[in-house]
Amino acid sequence: MASASTLGRQLLEEARAPVFAAWLRGLRRQIHQHPELAFQEHRTSALVRAELDALAIPYVWPVARTGVVATIAGSAGPGPVFALRADMDALPIQEMVESEFKSKEDGKMHACGHDAHVAMLLGAAKLLQSRRDNLKLVFQPAEEGHAGGYHVLQEGVLDDVDAIFGMHIDTFLPVGTVCSRPGAFLAGSARFKATIVGKGGHGAMPHGAVDPVVAASSAVLSLQQIIAREVDPLQGAVVSVTFIKGGETFNVIPESVTLGGTCRSMTTEGLSYLMKRIREVIEGQAAVGRCSATVDFMEEELRPYPATVNDEGMYVHAKAVAEDMLGEENVSLCPQVMAAEDFGFYAQKIPAAFFFVGVHPAGEEINHVHTPYLVIDEDVLPVGAAMHAAVAIEFFNKHTVSSPSLS
Ligand code: NI
Repeated sequence: MASASTLGRQLLEEARAPVFAAWLRGLRRQIHQHPELAFQEHRTSALVRAELDALAIPYVWPVARTGVVATIAGSAGPGPVFALRADMDALPIQEMVESEFKSKEDGKMHACGHDAHVAMLLGAAKLLQSRRDNLKLVFQPAEEGHAGGYHVLQEGVLDDVDAIFGMHIDTFLPVGTVCSRPGAFLAGSARFKATIVGKGGHGAMPHGAVDPVVAASSAVLSLQQIIAREVDPLQGAVVSVTFIKGGETFNVIPESVTLGGTCRSMTTEGLSYLMKRIREVIEGQAAVGRCSATVDFMEEELRPYPATVNDEGMYVHAKAVAEDMLGEENVSLCPQVMAAEDFGFYAQKIPAAFFFVGVHPAGEEINHVHTPYLVIDEDVLPVGAAMHAAVAIEFFNKHTVSSPSLS
């Protein structure tokens, strides 16, 4: 039995053994070749289940359509339940990287590293399969915009979970390093779409029309005042109008204009405030221009993501595990990031820690996530697998020794 200070390093060594690492690479490449979009991860889900079957680990499926929640059950009796989470979906991007495992699906690519996330969590399953703790491994669908995490929680399969851990690849960090921060880490995020309706007319006779283009222009500028004049300058927040559509001809004032974009805040309350004000500002500016407006946040199909807020204790726990495994110099404090993650839904309900794990190949140019050029250094796979496993095992070590109940 490894002592606390060497357990992480032993797991890393185990995961880096040639046969283990090759198995991880093979899994990642199979998933990479067959990327599937949100809620369509049938093949990926089948691969996950086949691997769990091979490891004799039971699971619940389907969870939120394609999701799989595996359980490594505790014969040690009741105790705290710990969950590890990976997301499975890809993006509607045409891969431009040439490799023997290039995407075979036209217009789809694992451009956010979720292929690596699945492989790392399966790696953790293999490292943890003989444990007797109460562990849940969550392979969730639809992280990219469709709130798969929310839908997993809705099914109640994680109601008994006391703490949860997740990771995302980071293209800025070298392999063998991780980063995170306590408290608010990733933004809460929502989308909006507005239609401003006036009255069409001849461009030469604006007085006979009610011009929605001018009203929309005022609305776009006024939306920026929310950030400039209403949000604490020390709080991160964004409103970006990313499209405006309306009119097609030089001499015709259109009947209506549609605009939309994204809003983000480092707090979930801040996000609610932005959403309230976006509606008021667009409706108000439309009224000033004698137009009417409807504002839609599409909350049913594209549910807003809450901020991802790391629990202080869980952050400290995972950081200590990472420092032991990778060395203190390879664990850093991350700045807050305006990207959003549906891991925020778990973190809202369960003490949670979310970490970035480096995938940047040494000496090479950085190719970012959500681009057709993403390349990751597959040496991250054993690091991620061992990190998942060590965070879980050390959690049980602490909580079975010191306090049986968590609060
Ligand atoms: Ni992602």
